[in-house]
Amino acid sequence: MIPRLKPYFSLRELFAALSPSSGKIVQFENEFSTKFGCEHGVMFSFGRTALYALLKAWGLEKDEVICPAYTCVVVQHAIVISGNTPVFVDCEEGSFNMSYDGITDAITDKTRAIVVTHLFGYPMDVHKIQSIVSDAEEKYGNKIYVIQDAAHSYGAKWDDELVTGFGDAAIFGLNISKIMNSIFGGMATTNSEDTYNKLIEFREKEIKPAGAIKTVHRLIYLVSVMVAFNQVVYSFTNWMERMGLLGKLVKYFDESTIEFPNGWNEMPVELEARVGLVQLSKYDKIIEMRKGNAENHLARFLNFSEFHLPKADKGATYSHFVVTVENREEWVQTYMKKGIELGILIEYSVPEMPSYQPYKRGSYPISEYYSEHCINIPVWPGVNLR
Ligand SMILES: Cc1ncc(COP(=O)(O)O)c(C=O)c1O
Repeated sequence: MIPRLKPYFSLRELFAALSPSSGKIVQFENEFSTKFGCEHGVMFSFGRTALYALLKAWGLEKDEVICPAYTCVVVQHAIVISGNTPVFVDCEEGSFNMSYDGITDAITDKTRAIVVTHLFGYPMDVHKIQSIVSDAEEKYGNKIYVIQDAAHSYGAKWDDELVTGFGDAAIFGLNISKIMNSIFGGMATTNSEDTYNKLIEFREKEIKPAGAIKTVHRLIYLVSVMVAFNQVVYSFTNWMERMGLLGKLVKYFDESTIEFPNGWNEMPVELEARVGLVQLSKYDKIIEMRKGNAENHLARFLNFSEFHLPKADKGATYSHFVVTVENREEWVQTYMKKGIELGILIEYSVPEMPSYQPYKRGSYPISEYYSEHCINIPVWPGVNLR
């Protein structure tokens, strides 16, 4: 069974996890932020906590935050739980990302931030965003913060420049489904000294220290993941998932509630940073292999009329290789019989979820279409579709 995703782990991560060295959170923050084009990095337990922290650090409350209708719902959870209002923007025709005209239309005098998500690793035009934002700032006389959501787009580039170097800050998710990971974790990066100081102040005041038990939990989790994704064991893991036996380990949202997971406001642990540092050292190789696989997929499915392929994009780093199809379930089953697991990652349009109905303004047809028609083909380093 070929899994839909697979973290690029070796024994190096295990040795790093078992090593007693400390001071690694700061080292990870420094090396990570440098790698992704920023001067500062601040690590949290989740990417969503990093977003929450930014909104709080900037003092945004009861403000409007523009975000995609088609994205991971935890982004909107962070906006709502921080006391703000999400304003949804539908996708650009032919893209998984927000429509530029949609962003312009959504901005009002209450807009104080925009979450620019580069979904599945496909970059948005960061210059165009900046010019939309500058025009709006001039029109309404308010600062509008631009946050690059790079949870899917580590290292994605627009015009040969890292998207995460633009705007006021960037956020990253660092769980095992991401391009690289620190077991769990999240990071906010920024080039602004002021934002950095505010984030550190926020973390010192609002984020609780982690208990020793968390380190043990993370070690057990790392070992379990290594075993679960082992080639021999994965069929069993997949069977457990299909039987619903993995519960909350794979289901990251509940349609009807807006909530954060346990531990969202606790510090990450040193062990996670040590694993993150090993992953960071492998990062260039990971991206090279992902891009190679994506190119192979594009060539392989080029004349396959039933898969609608994304545009080739040299700046993309492919957290997922997503195609749209008519009968998603049928394709999932067809591939399952061949021993290949296809992923269905974002199977909802956020404004259509019961808990987000109150925030809906109009309709989001492209997002709804993707929620029903996207599948992702494994693109992780080392995958061989045969
Ligand atoms: C697009 C996007 N943004 C942000 C996040 C938040 O990351 P985390 O799960 O670490 O909170 C995710 C999570 O998967 C995501 O997919």
